[in-house]
Amino acid sequence: KTRVFSGIQPSGGLTLGNYLGALKRFAVAQDNGIETIYCIVDLHAITVWQDPATLRQATRELAAGFIASGVDPARSILFNQSQVSAHAELAWVFNCVARMGWLNRMTQFKDKAGKNRENASVGLFAYPNLMAADILTYHATHVPVGDDQKQHLELARDIAIKFNNDFGVNFFPVVEPVIEGVATRVMSLRDGGKKMSKSDPSDQSRINLTDDADAISQKIRKARTDADALPDTPEGLEGRAEARNLVNIYAALADKTVAEVLAEYGGQGFGAFKPALADLAVAKLTPISSEMTRLLQDVAEIDRILGEGADRAEAIARPILEQTYDIVGMVRSR
Ligand code: TYM
Repeated sequence: KTRVFSGIQPSGGLTLGNYLGALKRFAVAQDNGIETIYCIVDLHAITVWQDPATLRQATRELAAGFIASGVDPARSILFNQSQVSAHAELAWVFNCVARMGWLNRMTQFKDKAGKNRENASVGLFAYPNLMAADILTYHATHVPVGDDQKQHLELARDIAIKFNNDFGVNFFPVVEPVIEGVATRVMSLRDGGKKMSKSDPSDQSRINLTDDADAISQKIRKARTDADALPDTPEGLEGRAEARNLVNIYAALADKTVAEVLAEYGGQGFGAFKPALADLAVAKLTPISSEMTRLLQDVAEIDRILGEGADRAEAIARPILEQTYDIVGMVRSR
């Protein structure tokens, strides 16, 4: 049985990368009638310092972002991680399954810890084990993510395989990463070699889901490009990272293929393409941010939705955690 799980960190605002690489696809999976579980991973967020008031606010904003992007809390389970303790509990078991060597190879840890590894939190190092627990405590089969999460998902597969081998069971499914579509790696608007990221110091490098129409248009107009016209076919984007990125963004926002976009705009320069992209982005994104603002006026309702989602999530996760403890040999007597 197909069960989709995915998560987003409530750290900083949402970018166009999060929307196209994750949120928009989350809504599609749900609309296809698949069982979908979406998690605001607040425990992951605190692997780096979070101001408590800001974290609380970011959690509610992200919940609003999910809903405004089309995730329907009646059809999907939407909740924040810390309200379902099975995640943290299973993560501990996985801390004892995963090997130091595996985690030492994680490029995200190396990037985030930087030169000062001695001073990184232990949580930042163990982060992928918690992510594996998120997925496996639901026996999720499919995990839609952007390209940057690929290595973490491979680790989740390795953990599932090692656990099953160690205990001689066929308990945890080996998950399939779902890294599909034209927008699995939305790049910075300033540098086609860098991923669009909420942590980039330059706000010009990204479109935030909360940007207004002027900001969106201005950022797209100023996006770095080469001077050539757009090619007629996708092969012509080879070696043109910035051009490719803008075409990919257009295709993802318009639900078209890159070939379709180029059939329309091939031969035209960025002077024509950028305004068209800006109009499209404004048309698709500004309704999301106004809906977020509207939803955030009723924080109690957002908290209620997260609480209800947590109850439904718990009902799935707890029995799987209990079975895990049983397999591992923990006495359960109450
Ligand atoms: P996070 O919070 O950094 O990002 C959330 C989702 O957005 C995708 N994404 C992008 N996609 C395309 N282009 C981009 N520029 C871009 N930037 C971000 C990410 O790939 C991700 O899908 N570790 C995860 C959160 C997590 C999780 C999980 C995901 C925790 N547990 C279990 C799946 C399953 C993270 O930090 O994502």
